Amino acid sequence: MNILVLHGPNLNLLGLREPEVYGKETLDDINAMLEAIAREHNAELRIVQSNHEGALIDALHDARTWADGVLINPGAFTHYSYALRDAIAAIEKPCIEVHLSNVHKREEFRHRSVLAAVCVGQIVGLGWRSYTLGLTGLIGILEKSESSK
Ligand code: DQA
Repeated sequence: MNILVLHGPNLNLLGLREPEVYGKETLDDINAMLEAIAREHNAELRIVQSNHEGALIDALHDARTWADGVLINPGAFTHYSYALRDAIAAIEKPCIEVHLSNVHKREEFRHRSVLAAVCVGQIVGLGWRSYTLGLTGLIGILEKSESSK
């Protein structure tokens, strides 16, 4: 099972960036947690962080050929990137959207996700657990679709 993990803009600064909102874990800490879960399930992760919309879109297009599913924290692109939304829709792979913070408790512009409608589901507000639960959920969905083939 192959999974693309995508981290969007500013997530490279996790640990330093507004730790009261996003937690003190770094992106490396979160990636290590995800790798540990993947190992338990014999899943292979490719992890990409980019601050550039086009690079995230390229990674999604590339995933068409090798990935079974996608775990994504699109950062602020969540709220306005129709291009990212179209890329997720185009590749036809199950995608789970995660957010560390509870976007619904924050500024109004964060309440809307333009990506949610093309994702299987969304996990928000649980800090690093949003990622680990998101990955576990995605693996569960992929295992189920594998066993029904
Ligand atoms: C975020 C929430 C977004 O609104 C914000 O722009 C981020 C991080 C989160 O994980 O809580 O960069 O996606």
